[in-house]
Parts: sequence; structure tokens; C-alpha cells
Amino acid sequence: MIFSSLIGLLLLLPQSFAFVPNSVGRTFLSPTITSLAMSEERYTIADQPARFARAKRENNQRYLDITTVYDPSLLQGKRVAVTGANRGIGLALAKELAAAGAKVIGIVRSSSPELDALNPEEVVTGIDVTDDAKCAALSSQIKGGAIDVLINNAGYFKEEVERLDTLDFPDQLKTIDICACGPLRVASSLINGGLLKEGSKIVMITSQGGSVGWREVQCPTGGDYGHHMSKAAANMMSVLLANEVRSKGIAVGVFHPGFNKTEMTAKYKEIWEIEGAVDPSVGAKRVLHETNQLSMETSGKFINCEDGLEIPW
Ligand SMILES: NC(=O)c1ccc[n+]([C@@H]2O[C@H](COP(=O)([O-])OP(=O)(O)OC[C@H]3O[C@@H](n4cnc5c(N)ncnc54)[C@H](OP(=O)(O)O)[C@@H]3O)[C@@H](O)[C@H]2O)c1
Repeated sequence: MIFSSLIGLLLLLPQSFAFVPNSVGRTFLSPTITSLAMSEERYTIADQPARFARAKRENNQRYLDITTVYDPSLLQGKRVAVTGANRGIGLALAKELAAAGAKVIGIVRSSSPELDALNPEEVVTGIDVTDDAKCAALSSQIKGGAIDVLINNAGYFKEEVERLDTLDFPDQLKTIDICACGPLRVASSLINGGLLKEGSKIVMITSQGGSVGWREVQCPTGGDYGHHMSKAAANMMSVLLANEVRSKGIAVGVFHPGFNKTEMTAKYKEIWEIEGAVDPSVGAKRVLHETNQLSMETSGKFINCEDGLEIPW
């Protein structure tokens, strides 16, 4: 009787669980890959090595070769503004956009020779996204008129891991200011200045680190307080903004760009290959593919650009 009840209970459970190692070698309770594959329609997998391993096992071309789905021609002639376009993913976005025939508007603290070499339509320098006045005046510095897509890419992640004995509250506030308030300063300037209109898109590059639901799997021992709090705040900001601009016909995407080999993640170099980190040129194409997919119907959703599936809040 007890045995048959247990079997019944197991059959009713939506997922089975197993003990698996995470990227830092610790063991934790996780839904098994098979059960996750069954529930893949809506949500992607929290366990990044398992996510990458499954993509390879299933030869998932959407994940492994973004060029099989990304259509750059959809961006031709579009005016696309990118914050942090001087390096990292932002520079890779600018390169892909230029290659697609889009008109790039770089919004940066200072430009770089690589960005200048792309001959962008405009480069607005001196924009620190934590500066209220500079951001408010941003729309008046963009000369060429309406913008089709704003990609809020600029971000920050403290080099050292924060733990209880290394908490850095000023740095936490700085991170929240850059990653959560910064994109709102930039977006509000361009909306209030009339540059983002009906049909325009706003992309918020946040991070899977902002998913509260995924902390059990990705941070079973805590840590990285400032960065993860900032990205959770960025997610909240993005949904509020998506709701506020819905009546204006502006769509807001909330994107995790995937794991990219940039200065920001150089501290994780030893796990780049295990966890499927990619060259930023790949990450940029993934972001631009999801930008092309973004519509009023998908506005406000939190999407993993690696596989196009949702991340739970
Ligand atoms: N790399 C990944 O695997 C990964 C994963 C998830 C999410 N992300 C997100 O993707 C975005 C780009 O990351 P990345 O890897 O390219 O980082 P990165 O190489 O460190 O580049 C960061 C960019 O943000 C700009 N920035 C930083 N603070 C700023 C400020 N106060 N005002 C204006 N611009 C500022 C930097 O400009 P300066 O040159 O002036 O410092 C730089 O252009 C970030 O939002 C990051 O959180 C990245």
C-alpha cells in the first residue's frame, strides 16, 4: 500500500531530481536532464553545463550555430543605438549591426579605435549611465532623428567575488546604479525626447544572474551580491517599463546574452569551454536574432538568447 502510494506520487511529480555537480564542483539537487528536456517548451535550463551539454547532445543548431536562424537583412537601414559600444558585447553588437547595414549610434563614456573603425552613424561620448544630467540631455545629442532599436548593453560586475567577509556596499550601490538605473535613464531620455516611438524596440541586456528562481542552482552557496541584486532590479525595471510603454507601441525585451568571452567574464576563464562561453560575435548575433523576434506580444519576457527560451524570474 505504502509502496504503491509512493509510485503514484512519483508519477504525479512534474520532474525527477538527481544529485549533480555544478561549475564550481559542488553537488546539489537538480532536476535531471531528461525531465528538463520534457519541460523545455517554455523555460531553459538553470544548470549551465547541463544546458550546453544537452544542446550538443541534441545537435541543437539554434544554440550551436546562430547563423542558421539569424537574419541580418531585417536590420538593414535601421537606426540602432547601443550603450557600451566601445568594447565587449557592445562592440560586437556594433560590428554585427554595421555588417548588416544598420546605422549604428554608439552611446559611450569614451569611444575606442575599434568602434571608430566601423564608421558609425553617430557616436555620443561622455555618457556615464549613472549621470542623471548627462543621460537626460542624451536625446538632444542624437542628431539623426528617431531610433528603431535601443540596446541597453552597458554593465558592470565587480572583479572579486563578494561573500559575507568581503561585502562591498558602495560597490553594490554602484552596480545597481549602472545595471538597473542606468538603462532606465537612457531609455527614458530617448522616450521623453521623442526618439523612441510606436514600433521602436528597447532591448535590456540583463543577465541570468538576475533570476531569483535560479539562485538555488547557480548560487547554492550564495555570493556575488551586488551583481545579482543589480540584475534582478534591472529585470523588475524592464517589466515596469514594458508595461508603461505598451500603450505607446514600444516593445521591451529582457535578454540574457548567453555566456560570452569578454573582459567581464575573464575571471571565469577556466570554465569558458565547459559551460559554452562564446566569442562576443556569436553572442551579438544571438542578441540581434532575439531583437528581430521581439514584438508587442513578447514584450516584457525574460529570454535566454542562447536558445530563445524563457528564464523564470
Ligand atoms: N559577458 C557575459 O557572459 C555576460 C553574461 C550576462 C550578461 N552580460 C551583460 O552584458 C553586458 C555587456 O557585458 P560585457 O561582457 O561586454 O562587459 P564588458 O566587456 O565589461 O563591457 C562593459 C561595457 O559597459 C560599459 N560601462 C560600464 N560602466 C559604465 C558606466 N557607468 N557608464 C557607461 N558605460 C559603462 C563599459 O564602458 P567603459 O569601457 O567606459 O568601461 C563597456 O563598454 C553587461 O550588461 C553584462 O552585465 C554579460
